[in-house]
Amino acid sequence: MAISAGALVVFLVLVAQVGMLPAWAGASIATVESTTDLGHGGNLSAASSLPEFAIMPPAGPLVLTPPMGWNGYNRFHLKVNAATVVSAARALVASGMKGAGYMYVNLDGGWDLHWRGPGGALLPDPVKFPHGIRPVVDYVHSLGLKFGIYISAGMQNCAATSAGSYGHYQQDAATFAFWGVDYLKFDWCDVPFKNYPQLTHRQVSELLARQMGIALAATRRPIVYDVNDWGGSDEPWMWARPANMWRTAPDIQDRYPSLLLNFTRNVQHYERAARGGWNDPDMLEVGNGGMNFTEYQSQFSLWAEMAAPLIAGNDLTSMSADTRSILTNQAVIAVDQDPLGRQAYPVSSSAGLWVLSKQLANGDRAVVLFNQTNAPATISTTVAQAGLPSGFDYTLLNLWSGGETDTSGPIAVAVPAHGVVFYRIARTETRPITA
Ligand code: GAL
Repeated sequence: MAISAGALVVFLVLVAQVGMLPAWAGASIATVESTTDLGHGGNLSAASSLPEFAIMPPAGPLVLTPPMGWNGYNRFHLKVNAATVVSAARALVASGMKGAGYMYVNLDGGWDLHWRGPGGALLPDPVKFPHGIRPVVDYVHSLGLKFGIYISAGMQNCAATSAGSYGHYQQDAATFAFWGVDYLKFDWCDVPFKNYPQLTHRQVSELLARQMGIALAATRRPIVYDVNDWGGSDEPWMWARPANMWRTAPDIQDRYPSLLLNFTRNVQHYERAARGGWNDPDMLEVGNGGMNFTEYQSQFSLWAEMAAPLIAGNDLTSMSADTRSILTNQAVIAVDQDPLGRQAYPVSSSAGLWVLSKQLANGDRAVVLFNQTNAPATISTTVAQAGLPSGFDYTLLNLWSGGETDTSGPIAVAVPAHGVVFYRIARTETRPITA
């Protein structure tokens, strides 16, 4: 099948935009050409006749530090409606969370009907969103916040209640941009892998993720792109950039074993995180009631240390002072939002006693000592093991207590079961120790 010169240029520009040409590109070209629209496997010939937006560069750098916000799913599941979103947005402001950096108010699955309207338009559920999505977006924007939405890459959403985007990527991206959406969570349910017999599961996922990425870029609206492919064997951390985040772990649940699983999965991929593209161990459960204060403090600390998106998942309108104190800890948030954009790496993890070290832009280190076990334990390390040069005095700022201690090297501290001690380590003075 002949490829026109124009189509080839478009393809090469798109490849340049979305990354290296994968080894299976030959197969993908064949697949792409055999279908009829970009949202249904894509079509290079069609792409060449599309408006020029298909070759426009992406809207510019987004989320150079991990996105922060709220999503209703962990607390309300699919029962989110216009009123819930409006109350959450108000509470984000009133609670001081907006001031602490939380910006995105994200609608999760279940907002649209299972069928589409005339011309294939997505239909917001008229009971949940009687005036549609746009006025809700406008309200969120009026508070100085940003709005996120959800759609599945496949035929329907994961709960099988709503239409998916398959076959409509360009149309849906344009709709979201028209509504003023600032963030898209692109989920991975009911993907018709069987339509691509010559590709592996992972290749199909990569193809679809790229197609929606192109559709979003084509809108010219800056929209954070959250590739929610939680399929472990797909390994989205290997290919999802230039998307802004990608899942590394299954859906989190509000219990400690789930926190631990998602942490241990996500922590391995520290080399993949960098400014503008983040590993996502899933949203926060802080304040949802299934874990204790120590465990929620651990989730928040570990997520910040791993430069994870901080997407609160609790009911912001009835937040306890304890929950608020965790979610708005500025010193911990500063570690998450550090402009260097590094994810912590594990220094050691012997017998479930973890030492994590994260390099920070000003030369400090953020060090989390995490005791995953069921009994209190002393965790030991040294500043050198944490990656700092020996021969200097260091100050350890405890990010939860605010207390400071000094060391010339050794660090050893009692850590409660399931708990953390979180230090920001800075050189006490620039002069080397001489005595
Ligand atoms: C899952 C997704 C969750 C949530 C849910 C909604 O696939 O990972 O975060 O969005 O769908 O049904």
